[in-house]
Amino acid sequence: MVVKDALEAARVAADIIARIVRDKPTAALLVATGNTPLPAYAELARRAENGEVDFSRVLAVQLDEYVGLEEDDPRSLWRWTRRSFVDPLGVTRTLRLVDVTTFDDDIAKVGGLDLAVLGLGPNGHLGFNEPPCDEHAKTREVDLTPESLVSNARYFDLPVPTRARTAGMTTILSAREKLLIVTGAHKRRILARTLDEVSSRDVPASWLRGEDTTVVADEEARPRD
Ligand code: GLP
Repeated sequence: MVVKDALEAARVAADIIARIVRDKPTAALLVATGNTPLPAYAELARRAENGEVDFSRVLAVQLDEYVGLEEDDPRSLWRWTRRSFVDPLGVTRTLRLVDVTTFDDDIAKVGGLDLAVLGLGPNGHLGFNEPPCDEHAKTREVDLTPESLVSNARYFDLPVPTRARTAGMTTILSAREKLLIVTGAHKRRILARTLDEVSSRDVPASWLRGEDTTVVADEEARPRD
């Protein structure tokens, strides 16, 4: 669905996430980092503070992480998740992506993912499922593409690590619902390719298909005819 701007996208995305949590207070949510979902997380923090929604029993599941960082490294994506989502929303249950060999089993043990909250990488990646990536890719370690290294350099002044762990494409697709938030004119081209009728390994996000996926895009990101 197309909404006016990033603020409206945040409200609509927050509505979807809050609905899942109200229906199932112990919901398992796969949580993206990046700048795009931050306004939605801030909106949810406001609602949690007002008592409109309770995240205390939700399970926050990590989507991706750089390899080789100390826990308190400013580049740590877990730190990002804690600061933007876990702490402000009052989440107490978390599943971190530390061991790629056990992560998918750990998710299965808690009954699977109820919702994957996703942003769109400039090269069409989800998490760090870099192109080319097929829909059966499992949770694993990957080398980041030059495009992701450049894009992620805007988050901090330190060098971007070149390897990362990512929840697999198959892990993301296994979520009962997927929410892809896309805002800004710089995402217009890659969103158009994502929504193309044919799914392709060249645009990993194009594997998102069907009724269980909601794309919330703002007017700036909306593909032009
Ligand atoms: C990053 C992360 C993704 C994120 C994407 C978009 O590299 N690995 O999880 O969704 O790129 O980031 P942003 O929302 O800042 O554009």
